[in-house]
Amino acid sequence: MFSEEITQEVDAIVTRYPEARSALLPLLHLIQREKGWVSPDGMNWAAERLDLSPAHVEGVVTFYSMYFTKPVGRNVIQLCRTLSCDIRGAQSIRKMIQDKLGIAPGETSSDEKFSLIEVECIGACGTAPAMMIGDDLHENLTPERVGAILDQVED
Ligand code: FES
Repeated sequence: MFSEEITQEVDAIVTRYPEARSALLPLLHLIQREKGWVSPDGMNWAAERLDLSPAHVEGVVTFYSMYFTKPVGRNVIQLCRTLSCDIRGAQSIRKMIQDKLGIAPGETSSDEKFSLIEVECIGACGTAPAMMIGDDLHENLTPERVGAILDQVED
């Protein structure tokens, strides 16, 4: 599934933990970094490598919104839909994104530049509404600001 170099990285991750099973989250991060998402094959591979059941690994992957269970675009927009953001206009932000990019939550644009995912609180409640694009946090969003932010995202 992985090159020799990545396999060595996996081995290094696993040996950091007293129990191999504790390496599951970093291993899933590595799979997603290398493949762009965590496929069923990736889950099975992690389960086998860490001596866990596939069902356990799938449960972890589907619990955390940071793991993608299907292919995504080159830039993943994670829009918070929890209370503070909702009260402060997340729905208008979602509409703006949907109208501008032509994608609903869970979808990827036809050019594969963007995917839109709605997530629970991302820890920026005091500056809601908020979203992440990749690793970048964007706060105090307005529909106008979101339009400008999306225009500046590099391909
Ligand atoms: S509720 Fe949206 S960041 Fe916390």
